[in-house]
Amino acid sequence: MLPGLRPTPENIQNLGVKPAVYPDFGVTEIAVTPLFVKIIAKPQKSCPVPPLHIKTVLHSFNRRATQFQDYGFMFTKQVTDSKVYQWFQERLEIQAISDDISSKYVPPHVNIFYCIGGITLVCFIIQFATGFAMTFYYKPTVAEAYNSIQYIMNEVNFGWLIRSVHRWSASMMVLMMILHVFRVYLTGGFKRPRELTWVTGVTMAVITVTFGVTGYSLPWDQVGYWAVKIVSGVPEAIPVVGGTIVEFLRGGTSVGQATLTRFYSLHTFVLPWLIAVFMLLHFLMIRKQGISGPL
Ligand code: HEM
Repeated sequence: MLPGLRPTPENIQNLGVKPAVYPDFGVTEIAVTPLFVKIIAKPQKSCPVPPLHIKTVLHSFNRRATQFQDYGFMFTKQVTDSKVYQWFQERLEIQAISDDISSKYVPPHVNIFYCIGGITLVCFIIQFATGFAMTFYYKPTVAEAYNSIQYIMNEVNFGWLIRSVHRWSASMMVLMMILHVFRVYLTGGFKRPRELTWVTGVTMAVITVTFGVTGYSLPWDQVGYWAVKIVSGVPEAIPVVGGTIVEFLRGGTSVGQATLTRFYSLHTFVLPWLIAVFMLLHFLMIRKQGISGPL
């Protein structure tokens, strides 16, 4: 990283921004790296120039602005003139991708509590990685499951760590998700037009709990076995169809190998794909609509 340019009128002019406008929109920083030049400007309190105008001015230098903070961002000439950049630009319009990414801004009302959804995602990614690692050693049979977990804990290099992180991160994911729902609820983030984001969220909450229930039984120890027996027996209380549902969940009349196979398949195949689809929808909608406004 080269040292940033001092935001003097000359430096700004050299970058192609009209110096006459400079005092009005108060450039606070110009970052210059071998890859890009970025201007960060804040309108002065007394700034007579309307934000829209600032936007237009910076747009001519480069692309983006908001009411609160203006960002000018562009690749250096060195980059845009390069053959590699031209090659990709012609085929993939990479400048448009860069514009899209650099045009999103964080509004001032957004605080640390708006990070909790992201932390939930990080927990999920940890679950995915550690869970995947355990599939190398875990054996989903009633005869071998328990011993394979003992093997992971006692013999496999760092197996104890991978499994323990998987268990801790599972609890963290549920906790963070609950806190995330609190944040969304208390800031009214679910209101029109974000109802569908909420609905995909509720679906993910159900999937996350199902992850927990199915995962809990996989070690096939006493607590896991009896938990699966109780949980899979709950629908029994439903009139008429209850018995059929219980049989469907257990893969037979009693809890056994078929149940473990089902739970393993759900936990490592069905649910990960399902939650991935809903996460994609969740994030696409958040990106399309932006974060909800201040209270
Ligand atoms: C696997 C679980 C989840 C993940 C990874 C996740 C992730 C995220 C992320 C990263 C955001 C961006 C803003 C922020 O972080 O606060 C967000 C926003 C949102 N989430 Fe979630 N979320 C999950 C579960 C839920 C649940 C259970 C609900 C509701 C029942 C929900 C409803 C919403 C809504 C309505 C927004 C938009 C809020 C706004 O614009 O202010 N999410 N989510």
